Amino acid sequence: MERPAKIPTHVSIIMDGNGRWAQNRGLERVRGHAEGVESVRAVTEACVEFGVKYLSVFAFSEENWGRPETEVDTLMKIMASSMKNEYGTFIKNGVRFRVLGNRARLSDGLNKAIDFLEDATAGGENLTLILFLSYSGKWDIQQAADRMAEEGAHDLEPYLVTAGIPDPDLIIRTSGEKRLSNYLLWQAAYSEFVFVDTLWPDFRKDSFRAALQEYASRDRRFGKVKDSK
Ligand code: IPE
Ligand code: IPE
Ligand code: MG
Repeated sequence: MERPAKIPTHVSIIMDGNGRWAQNRGLERVRGHAEGVESVRAVTEACVEFGVKYLSVFAFSEENWGRPETEVDTLMKIMASSMKNEYGTFIKNGVRFRVLGNRARLSDGLNKAIDFLEDATAGGENLTLILFLSYSGKWDIQQAADRMAEEGAHDLEPYLVTAGIPDPDLIIRTSGEKRLSNYLLWQAAYSEFVFVDTLWPDFRKDSFRAALQEYASRDRRFGKVKDSK
C-alpha cells in the first residue's frame, strides 16, 4: 500500500462506536468491543508499515466505569485475553506495549498481564503502542499537580503519565462524535483532529490511510506566521 506523504510521529485514536456497530447487527454491545480488537491489530500493523513511531488508543475512560457491570467485566476480559494473544505479533513486529491510566482501579489479574507484556516488549523499537486504560485528561492533570506540589516542583509536564512521549500530532475519533470526552486535554494543545463517521470495528487500514492523507494536507502553524524567518 502506498505510504502517505507526511507521516505523523504520534497518532492517537478515540475508538468509538463499538456498541452501535453491534446494535446495528442485532448483537450484544460487547460483540462490538471484540470486533474492535481486530481494528486495533490492523491499525497497529499499518503504523509499523508506514513508519508511525507512536500509536495510542483510548480504550477505557474513567467515566466508562459507570457503564453496566456486565459490559465493564467483559471489556476487561477482552483486554486481558487480547494482551495474551498479541504477545507473539508484538515481538515479531518490534512493538513496545504500554498502558497509561489509573492502574489502581484495574484488577490484580489484569495488572499482572500488563506488567508481563510491558516487560516482555520493552525492547520493541519500531512502534510504541499505548493503551489508555482507566484514563481521563482531568485525572492525569490532577495526579500530576498533586505529585508536583508534593515535590515542590514547578513544571507539570514531567508528572503527566505521558512524560517522555511526544504529544499526539493527529487525533482521530471514529463514529461521528465530535468531542474529546476528557481524553488528552493537556497533550492535545496543538494536535490536528480528524473526525470520521466510520464505527471503530469498521475502521481498518484503508480508513487509517485516508486519515493520514487528510493529516498530510494540513498546515500546522503552532501560533506562528507561515514561513516566517
Ligand atoms: C467505544 O465504543 C469503546 C469504549 C468506550 C469502551 P462504545 O462502547 O462507546 O460504542 P458506542 O459509542 O456506544 O456505539
Ligand atoms: C470515549 O468514548 C472513551 C473511549 C473511546 C474509551 P465514550 O463513548 O465513552 O464517550 P461519550 O460518552 O460518547 O462522550
Ligand atoms: Mg461511545
